[in-house]
Amino acid sequence: MQPDLPALLGGTPIRPDGPPGWPLLDSDVQAAVAGAMSAGAWGQYHGEHICALEAELAAFHDVPHALTCASGTLAVEAALRALRVGPGDEVVMAAYEYESNFLTVHALGAKPVLVDVHPHNWQLDETKLDAAFTPQTKAILCSHLHGGLVAMPAVMGIARTRGIGVVEDAAQALGAVVAGKPVGTWGDVGTLSFGGSKLLTAGRGGALLFNDAQLYQRTKTWLHRGLQQWAPLSELQATVLRPQLRKLRALTVQRAERVRELVGELTPPEGKGEERQPNPLTPFPKKEGGTEPTAVLSPSPFKGLTPFPKKEGGTEPETEEVKLFVALSSAPLRLGEGWGGVLRFDPSSTSSPIPLPPSTKLVFSTLPVPSGCRAKCS
Ligand SMILES: Cc1ncc(COP(=O)(O)O)c(C=O)c1O
Repeated sequence: MQPDLPALLGGTPIRPDGPPGWPLLDSDVQAAVAGAMSAGAWGQYHGEHICALEAELAAFHDVPHALTCASGTLAVEAALRALRVGPGDEVVMAAYEYESNFLTVHALGAKPVLVDVHPHNWQLDETKLDAAFTPQTKAILCSHLHGGLVAMPAVMGIARTRGIGVVEDAAQALGAVVAGKPVGTWGDVGTLSFGGSKLLTAGRGGALLFNDAQLYQRTKTWLHRGLQQWAPLSELQATVLRPQLRKLRALTVQRAERVRELVGELTPPEGKGEERQPNPLTPFPKKEGGTEPTAVLSPSPFKGLTPFPKKEGGTEPETEEVKLFVALSSAPLRLGEGWGGVLRFDPSSTSSPIPLPPSTKLVFSTLPVPSGCRAKCS
């Protein structure tokens, strides 16, 4: 064994049993579940926890309104509906985006219009937006992905000039801040996910954030059927989320520190002198007299680690991908299925007015899980 090498290359494993699972065991969550059990909240339609969570989410983000729902996917659909996106409309979004967001636009009968991402941080490139607008453009949908942040002040400036609504998907960035404002509060509607991999998790769940009372009311009406909300969050999910939300700010500070360390360690010596943007995980400003964070754009912390670009026209890449996948799986690392972006879909399902070189490079150089390696329900 060579102690100075990563375990994958023959070094000593730092975590022989693999990384810890997610979510981490949390005694406050356990206590909240026990409390919900004894108080009966776990079995109620209309207990105290959902209302309390919505109020706490609104307060945390400093917006007047928040709504919870069954998933981040549903939250994005509700947000697009709030902006009255429907058949024949166009929604401008990054060509590298969370896949279900493209499908949600399709589900509404609208068309995704693709713009490129910044090559240095993989987030929607706001300078490409103007070329994508047509008279059919109804909304911009932008997501903060993989620890990076979209330049929301610029996006909002462009959207306001054009009179176009913005859905800001903060599913992967809850707790981060862009130019002093929490993510999810820049767009006309912000969306969050509480899915199993998210920073606040209930296994499933989602939420929407609003500054505008009318958009809030329209969404609430759409989510309700009479007295009931369809596809709601449950009381038990709200119960486990509340203690996590209370800790989010402190944990974000800790994560930002770890990211800083990792980025420092992973940057090759020749890149050390490069000017770096602020850390994307800069936590929310402290309300009382804290310093204003300035994070706007950040390079991907994984810059330089993009695995295996496909080689033109050979069968070799697949073999390399399978080999890498098998090696990583035996590391042991838990590998999920991941997602490759809409450019892997049928091109006729979207339109892209201008070429998309960084997105194309990104989509076709990420490691897809080779067929046969996917976990299946049997
Ligand atoms: C950016 C983004 N948007 C939306 C979603 C959908 O959230 P959910 O899994 O809660 O439906 C996810 C989930 O991973 C996501 O990463």
